[in-house]
Amino acid sequence: MSFFPNYRPRRLRKSEQLRSMIRETVLNTQDLIYPLFVIHGQKVKNPVASMPGVFQLSVDELLREAQEVINLGIQAVILFGIPESKDPVGSGAYDSSGIVQQAVRALKKEFPNLVVITDVCLCEFTDHGHCGIVQNGEILNDSTLELLARTALSHVEAGADMVAPSDMMDGRVKAIRSCLDEHGFAHIPIMAYSAKYASGFYGPFRDAAGSAPQFGDRRSYQMDPANREEALREVQLDIEEGADIVMVKPALAYLDIIREVKDRFHYPVACYNVSGEYAMVKAAAQKGWIDEQKVVIEFLTGMRRAGADLIITYWAKDVAEWLKA
Ligand code: PBG
Repeated sequence: MSFFPNYRPRRLRKSEQLRSMIRETVLNTQDLIYPLFVIHGQKVKNPVASMPGVFQLSVDELLREAQEVINLGIQAVILFGIPESKDPVGSGAYDSSGIVQQAVRALKKEFPNLVVITDVCLCEFTDHGHCGIVQNGEILNDSTLELLARTALSHVEAGADMVAPSDMMDGRVKAIRSCLDEHGFAHIPIMAYSAKYASGFYGPFRDAAGSAPQFGDRRSYQMDPANREEALREVQLDIEEGADIVMVKPALAYLDIIREVKDRFHYPVACYNVSGEYAMVKAAAQKGWIDEQKVVIEFLTGMRRAGADLIITYWAKDVAEWLKA
């Protein structure tokens, strides 16, 4: 291109005023969803070693945390539960007095305007750590669907504002949609983990939620990181089945997928800035090797620029504070 010297991009970079006038992407606190881990007990606040600043919280502590989150202007949280005991069919996931259901009731009672989203999956509740029922070493699809639908329904009956299935069984959005509709919850949106990859970046989360698979891995249900077209088929399928928001997960290594999903489907897109992405920045920052605030804002701006409307991030509180300053 030979626009120079007529076009000089630096003219508009001269001052912060000019830079902010032509800024294309903005990060807002309202776009952030804060993940919370809830555990049985009272006054429990267990630090997660691989995720500095993240804790497993008992319901009383969760309420305290929620107040802080709200004071910072964050509007939505996503809940993960750590049950007292596990079994092969993950019954804690759909127990009406399970840990997530208790947490939802308490949160909605105290903070009716907080958007409470629940992660719908079995892996935290099964003793084998897989996201579905296991038979002869296989993760069964269709018989898992009913349990996922029951889980979602129990969350919504407890007061959840939105459910987010993360299991990657085929047909689960439809199963959940039909079940919610049948029970008078046609108005409750589904945020589907649509393009969820079998990623190495979930390691720290599995410490936090105690959900590591006890045998094998999740590659028979989560996606191969090499695949792009398959992600588009997954998103299309979830939209056809009734998803209201589609998600790409993880975020950083999949920004191309976020962009393509946004361009093709014209649906609200969420991305999950996952535990491993958090842990690696925290570790480098603790060593003084990078400036945490700068890289986090850059990462999240990149996700928004790629097309994400919503970002699930363990940095939500920090970002809210930084944006206020
Ligand atoms: C449950 C679930 C996982 C995450 C969100 N929901 C773990 C997994 O699929 O193994 C990961 C979130 C993170 O790494 O921050 N299926």
